[in-house]
Amino acid sequence: MTKTCVLAYSGGLDTSVAIKWLQEEKGYDVVTLTADVGQPLDGLQDALARAKKIGAVKTEVVDLKQEFANEYLAPAIQANLLYEHVYPLATALGRPLIASHLVRVAEAVGAEAIAHGCTAKGNDQVRFDVTTKTLNPRLKVIAPMREWLVTREEAVQWAKQRNVPLPDISRKKTYSTDENLWGRSIESGDIEDASKAPNEAAFAWTKSPQDAPNTPELVSIGFENGIPTTLNGKSLELWKLVQQLNGIAGKHGVGRIDHVEDRLVGIKSREVYECPAALTLIKAHRDLEALTLTKDVLLFKPQLEQKLAELTYNGLWFSPLADSIRAFHASTQGTVTGEVTLQLFKGSATSAGRTSPFSLYKADLATYGQGDTFDHTAATGFITIWGLPLQVASAVRGKGKAKKAKK
Ligand code: ARG
Repeated sequence: MTKTCVLAYSGGLDTSVAIKWLQEEKGYDVVTLTADVGQPLDGLQDALARAKKIGAVKTEVVDLKQEFANEYLAPAIQANLLYEHVYPLATALGRPLIASHLVRVAEAVGAEAIAHGCTAKGNDQVRFDVTTKTLNPRLKVIAPMREWLVTREEAVQWAKQRNVPLPDISRKKTYSTDENLWGRSIESGDIEDASKAPNEAAFAWTKSPQDAPNTPELVSIGFENGIPTTLNGKSLELWKLVQQLNGIAGKHGVGRIDHVEDRLVGIKSREVYECPAALTLIKAHRDLEALTLTKDVLLFKPQLEQKLAELTYNGLWFSPLADSIRAFHASTQGTVTGEVTLQLFKGSATSAGRTSPFSLYKADLATYGQGDTFDHTAATGFITIWGLPLQVASAVRGKGKAKKAKK
């Protein structure tokens, strides 16, 4: 009986060769699955035709933009999700989604395995493997590029000997990239030299701030329960809003990130990202949270935000802890409703106004001018009690100073 394997297929060199390798070396019938997560899809028809030519028994394409936005980006926005405080986790959020659909298709076609094109050095292999095993422990996971210990050149040679039609590799690819609605991740090539600024050629979604328009642009984002629902007053589905905002903010050079990142596999790696919509929305969301959340929630929440970022990065999106943290975050967002305006200008997005029916900012309490309702007489008594423990401590330990305890 033939056995089947579902391969995550991008149409690139590695996954094209992988189709043949899975057939020849592992004896699989290969079904390919191409996920549309908002990356450019030019060349898709050629890629599918090529997969068929190489011998794929079936090629599936699935549009995941809506699911990606609603099930992954919405909780990421509520969590202000940034790994190591800077990376909005575009690739890391896309992987569990794609893996969940590999599992779905594998179950539908009765496959015994899924396969992906990740190498042994990255985080993505962990995300695919762990998600697959979490969702269906009976499925095998095969990673040809991890298992088959050959160089890229050797793999191309191997494919050529077997007349495998390959994508055009005459133009040498300078960088390894991964794109989806939430951003573009750029690795390898001259980026590996962390002592230098990234080459302008690395960027595709963002204008260099120098070349960005000389006039600022205002953009307003409306939120409901911490989730963006309008762009410049117009209601939009989240995936469309993100897509449009990528264009608007990218044009102003907003969203470039240059990071030396700690991979799960133990190495530091220099990575560059372009995430115009992600950084703009997180900035806007934080502005609205500052207006509508109480001080204690605002100071506590980032601890769990960081934990969720780490879990996401490390391939544990579908873990019980991640579920609980997402539930906590959602529970804080009931009042995070309102509108934020940002000014986009030459690489930066700055606050330009925020309003909310749940605003905790009360001008009559804050003002130094007319209409002040703050009880000034309450301040002295409050401060006396606030500082009382220190007064007692300094009286016991010595004049005026709370001395350090002797060892
Ligand atoms: N370092 C990022 C992450 O682990 C991005 C990986 C992008 N992959 C790529 N083929 N360029 O999430």
